[in-house]
Amino acid sequence: MVLKTKERQQLAGQEKKADDIVFPFDSDEHRPLDTKKDDAPVIMEISNIDKAYSGDKKVLNDIAFDIRQGEVLSIIGPSGAGKSTLLRVINRMIEPSRGSITFQGEDTLSMKGRKLRSMRTDIGMIFQHYNLVDRSSVFENVLHGLLGYKNSLQGIFSLYTEAEKQRAVEIITELGISEQLYKRCDELSGGQKQRVGIARALIQDPKIILCDEPIASLDPNASRTIMEYLRRISRERGITIVVNLHQLDAAKQYSDRIIGLNGGRIVYNGNPDDIDPDTISRIYGSKLDELIVE
Ligand SMILES: Nc1ncnc2c1ncn2[C@@H]1O[C@H](COP(=O)(O)OP(=O)(O)OP(=O)(O)O)[C@@H](O)[C@H]1O
Ligand SMILES: [Mg+2]
Repeated sequence: MVLKTKERQQLAGQEKKADDIVFPFDSDEHRPLDTKKDDAPVIMEISNIDKAYSGDKKVLNDIAFDIRQGEVLSIIGPSGAGKSTLLRVINRMIEPSRGSITFQGEDTLSMKGRKLRSMRTDIGMIFQHYNLVDRSSVFENVLHGLLGYKNSLQGIFSLYTEAEKQRAVEIITELGISEQLYKRCDELSGGQKQRVGIARALIQDPKIILCDEPIASLDPNASRTIMEYLRRISRERGITIVVNLHQLDAAKQYSDRIIGLNGGRIVYNGNPDDIDPDTISRIYGSKLDELIVE
């Protein structure tokens, strides 16, 4: 898909010419039909979140939004906007400087010990660089997703039940990589590795999957496949997908809702279809060139 003529004209004065912006996600054919998630229950409430890594410089500034069950929510914004920091604050890999987060009605920031571990198994994560154990097989990597449920001895000796192994095979098959079951992960393509990442998140039976730039290292075809799987997971399993993306077109096509971040603040929170060139400028500002995806 390329920009419509009107959008091109409006963007013409920007640093990056609209003609140079390439979108690999052609047409609207991949857009889900049932995009309306406004009435789904709120699963997470994020209020007044600030984060400063050091000193007073806030990289997240007064962030507040709700996440609804089963929605695909994309977070977009230029490099340094705070997207990764926000995802890490959500699962408490990073502590915010201020604010509150509730997950299924419970305050997550005061959780400790078993409660915190249980919250973390409810929230899966996938990454741009997959974070797989390269020398281990697809099967083993997916089973690693269960470690959050195991005590340390079971973990050290990789003790999995037959039912768990069976479930791993089922998920791997569902993601179309059963032929790779015993292959080492460093023998896989990027798209296959990311499917292993999704399978590893799925086996922990999460309520939410956080995805930090899951398609940033993939070619357009593999990117489409991954976005299709993520959307399917939300539709068929009711799992909420929160996904950081640089690719505006992918965000527009696969999301129920988009949040735009700039300089640590939310500058857009709404329907993908309502994102116009003004909104794009507000989100990306002078970093419009980051919209290039090929
Ligand atoms: N561990 C850290 N210590 C100090 N500053 C950090 C740390 N991690 C991120 N930052 C800073 O916080 C800001 C937000 O970074 P973050 O990685 O969240 O942005 P992002 O939107 O994910 O960017 P990108 O698109 O490049 O991944 C940046 O200015 C970054 O330099
Ligand atoms: Mg990031």
